[in-house]
Amino acid sequence: MKFTNSAILAFATTALAAPSATTPVKPRKAVAACSSAVTLDATTNIWQKYKLHANTYYRKEVEAAVSALTDSSLAAAAASVADIGTFLWLDTIENIGKFEPAVADVPCEEILGLVIYDLPGRDCAAKASNGELKVGEISKYKSQYIDPIVKLIKAHPNTAFALIIEPDSLPNLVTNSDKTACKNSAAGYRDGVAYALKNLNLPNVIMYLDAGHGGWLGWDANLKPGAQELAKAYTAAGKPKQLRGIATNTAGWNQWDASPGEFSTASDAKYNKCQNEKIYVETFGAALKTAGMPNHAVVDTGRNGVSGLRAEWGDWCNVKGAGFGIRPTADTGSSLADAFVWIKPGGESDGTSDSSANRYDSFCGKSDAFQPSPEAGTWNQAYFEELIQNAKPSLV
Ligand code: BGC
Repeated sequence: MKFTNSAILAFATTALAAPSATTPVKPRKAVAACSSAVTLDATTNIWQKYKLHANTYYRKEVEAAVSALTDSSLAAAAASVADIGTFLWLDTIENIGKFEPAVADVPCEEILGLVIYDLPGRDCAAKASNGELKVGEISKYKSQYIDPIVKLIKAHPNTAFALIIEPDSLPNLVTNSDKTACKNSAAGYRDGVAYALKNLNLPNVIMYLDAGHGGWLGWDANLKPGAQELAKAYTAAGKPKQLRGIATNTAGWNQWDASPGEFSTASDAKYNKCQNEKIYVETFGAALKTAGMPNHAVVDTGRNGVSGLRAEWGDWCNVKGAGFGIRPTADTGSSLADAFVWIKPGGESDGTSDSSANRYDSFCGKSDAFQPSPEAGTWNQAYFEELIQNAKPSLV
């Protein structure tokens, strides 16, 4: 979704403005960041202290969605989603413009979640999220994408930030290295991720590196190479203190502790012990420890409320019948899982179902994918409504 910086700033002003007699918009308190610099101790679970902020960008998307609803109970349930914390994706250089308005209303006890997502040759094993930077444009990634974000975070020392680093990138190097696009992207991914980890290693930041999900790196043959690939990036970045571990379950997901897991009866299940995400976090966590990398996790529960929807475990595009999952919380019952968080903003598409589009990926045309669906990242009202209706725990 493209927003000009001025549109974003205009929106920020609206979001924080006092209500007028003619605008029936719920007034939001203008809150301030902390009064002194924030230091996050990455040896602890910071989510026990900080709540994931419900950012104004997603709030605006949800409020627009609510105004399109005529069913009042659905509208009320939808409106409640605006108050649930989600991550904000900085998915292009232009969308770094979303940073300032989002940081403007983060109270001291909350943490702003941001996704760093603009590597050259992005989404090398699929097409739906191919990005703006081409393979080889690594210096542009560093100087025009990472460096400005570093500068912005440094300019807000009194705010806490949680960063998810580059969903899908390193997992693709583990399992899709036979694909030409991934082969070509590999050097830039490794260099870019290490640069991001090194430079975003700031005291008011906690970082989690994307590790796919149990149905991806959880296969016996992928656990060790996966852990080693991530650990290599951590080492190349100089072992940044603020890296706490991994983020899982964002692009593709599993239920947290469903037993038996959704794909447990598949003929190849014997090759994957990680049949639910809890087992994955613990099993991959052990492999990370052996490989020498911090191994705590945040787990995306934004869309995993319903299981039994996918024809195949790897189906990732706008899964039909999906529902919002467990709300963000640090109460996970696993010492390795710091928190359940909503990383993918529910309602934003995974990819277009228009087969004539440049970024059309056949996964978005499968029979278990919701159609029609717009371009990745843009709003899909009907899908959002489905997520609400199918939410577990229930929202209606
Ligand atoms: C898209 C991004 C978007 C993100 C969150 C990704 O699949 O490629 O553009 O920001 O999802 O919706």
